[in-house]
Amino acid sequence: MTADTMRLTIRRPDDWHLHFRDGAMMEAVVPYTARQFARAIVMPNLKPPVTTVEAARAYRERIIAAVPAGMDFTPLMTCYLTDNIAADEVARGFEEGVWVAAKLYPAGATTNSDSGVTDVANLYPVLQRMEAIGMPLCVHGEVTHSDVDIFDREARFIDEVLIPLLAHFPDLKIIFEHITTKDAADFVMAAPANVAATITPQHLVLNRNALFEGGLRPHAYCLPVVKREEHRRAVRRAATSGSPKFFLGTDSAPHARDAKESDCGCAGIFNAPFALEVYATVFEEDGVLDRLEGFASVHGPAFYDMPLNEGTVTLEKAPVDVPAELSAGGDVIVPFRAGEMLSWRFV
Ligand code: DOR
Ligand code: ZN
Repeated sequence: MTADTMRLTIRRPDDWHLHFRDGAMMEAVVPYTARQFARAIVMPNLKPPVTTVEAARAYRERIIAAVPAGMDFTPLMTCYLTDNIAADEVARGFEEGVWVAAKLYPAGATTNSDSGVTDVANLYPVLQRMEAIGMPLCVHGEVTHSDVDIFDREARFIDEVLIPLLAHFPDLKIIFEHITTKDAADFVMAAPANVAATITPQHLVLNRNALFEGGLRPHAYCLPVVKREEHRRAVRRAATSGSPKFFLGTDSAPHARDAKESDCGCAGIFNAPFALEVYATVFEEDGVLDRLEGFASVHGPAFYDMPLNEGTVTLEKAPVDVPAELSAGGDVIVPFRAGEMLSWRFV
């Protein structure tokens, strides 16, 4: 390491939560993730959602076919839970190694969640089975009642759903996905070792002012929506704390530009192209670059009971320009940090 070329080499990281979509969009976005990450937990909220072992197997094959030659990348599939999915199907996919976790979307909480779960009590037979076989549950943690303020939906979920769920299934492995509040960070920190959380780049960097900075900003809109500054700080403290309960999950969620810049713009931020660069900037700003590797490459596999990756990636302290837009399978996507300069470059 010299004064003008500071380099950071870490064990190859994984992305424990993201959206690839399908078809031409999927083919266009997979290379961005495969370039930085060895593995990624792939969300099942396609249209229609991935609710069967066969659908997940076929989707996995399509993703693998989209990995550029010479890149080494493994998609880790998930099962979309519905009110009436069979416990046998969920367990079979896990036992056959097709999916590694199941995803709980409260119905109506976010993009393509219409087939999600209307009442977690409907899932009890499935959750009981998952607990018994050690299959992790990924959770979109927001209540959906129209009378609950959208900025309070995550905190309310903890009291109304998560605490009762854990009381019922104390050994179930739960990943509280993309946490955005101090409430969630505190809850996970204090919870037993079978509860962890993923954290996105945007929730480390943006507070809710970003939605209205000089006008309405659809590219800062994702779900759970970005929160007050005090919450951003708390989530950031959790990510950079070194606690093994927190690990990297980008929630990269590509939508075409015209679907975001619309009178009903889609939720989702496409951060895959520069994800590691943004995380590195956060850890550097907080003076804990030495903890980036744990967050990005160690805590996730440890929680999921998977081997650490072999190999390394290197970031260099050098400016990199994020393009204003990227073309993706006939669509245009505006990436996170579009048009800005980042201070770490993926080598
Ligand atoms: O912002 C989001 N986008 N949050 C989600 O939970 C889903 C995702 C998507 O699929 O676009
Ligand atoms: Zn997501």
